[in-house]
Amino acid sequence: MIILTNNEGKSGIGTTARLLREGRAALDAIEAGVRLVEDDETVRTVGRGGWPNLLGEVELDGSVMDGSTLRTGAVGGLKGFRHPVSVARQVMERLPHELLIGDGAARFAAEIGEERGELLADHSRKAYQRWFDGEVSPADRANWPDVPLTPYCQNAVDPEIGKDTTVFLALDAAGHIATGTSTSGWGWKYPGRLGDSPIIGAGAYADTRYGACACTGAGEMTIRAGTARAVVLYMKMGMSVERAVKEAVDDMRALKGGLISRVTIHAIDARGTHYVAAVNGLPTNHYWVWLPGMPEPESRPCEIIQISEDRPQDKPTAMKVYTDV
Ligand code: GLY
Repeated sequence: MIILTNNEGKSGIGTTARLLREGRAALDAIEAGVRLVEDDETVRTVGRGGWPNLLGEVELDGSVMDGSTLRTGAVGGLKGFRHPVSVARQVMERLPHELLIGDGAARFAAEIGEERGELLADHSRKAYQRWFDGEVSPADRANWPDVPLTPYCQNAVDPEIGKDTTVFLALDAAGHIATGTSTSGWGWKYPGRLGDSPIIGAGAYADTRYGACACTGAGEMTIRAGTARAVVLYMKMGMSVERAVKEAVDDMRALKGGLISRVTIHAIDARGTHYVAAVNGLPTNHYWVWLPGMPEPESRPCEIIQISEDRPQDKPTAMKVYTDV
């Protein structure tokens, strides 16, 4: 058995570990853990408490993948519901589809009785108002929101706290592997922007025969590189979990233009070995792991791999960072 999550998963991993110890299925244990992170307002990039988009709305993405059936469920741009991971699970359980977005996802969530909720927490509302007052021109304020948003689509957040996610990967006692993801995406993103968390193969992939991978950070990069699927495929081709992640990191070196920022790649293999690399990461980047025999989950440093010395997109230039509230 093993459960792996990123730093943001701290409030959920204890419950996931307990459920795995009790013999529960990986997917059930993951869903329970992710729900706790979605409810944790101190996690600024997941669920209630997440940063809003350019219109001040919190749009949530999430996914699950059952590595024993290769069934997935995902939602993107979901508004007004507290637990995207559970809506994603029900997409998998009840529909012949794998991904619902926007109004359709919200309609489905309402139809199955998912819990509604106000997602914009006070700290986010205040930060958004400070950004709006500080950055939006008087002419645009008068016509808001019927103005071009593209000029405002830049960093308004500290990139180390504004572009994250939670990801959970687990191998249960019966040998099944699963993944779960949940995020509010980037703070101040263009409305409708999806990151990698609901994109199976980019932000997460699980195959009980070989292992699983899930990513945090700049989803724009893992979408382009197909990172999560690539890592599992490299394991299928015979690479160790560490070698497979490093091969996927090498794939990222081919990305030209666009956003080059931090991505953290978390992976496990079918024997429960794990490896976590923070691409363009910082020494402060940690993950959480629980293995049988550990009384409590442990926080460990990620291996840092630089593929770019300079991360210009991550450095707000003239733009003030509004999340330092
Ligand atoms: N990795 C989360 C996102 O890009 O939205």
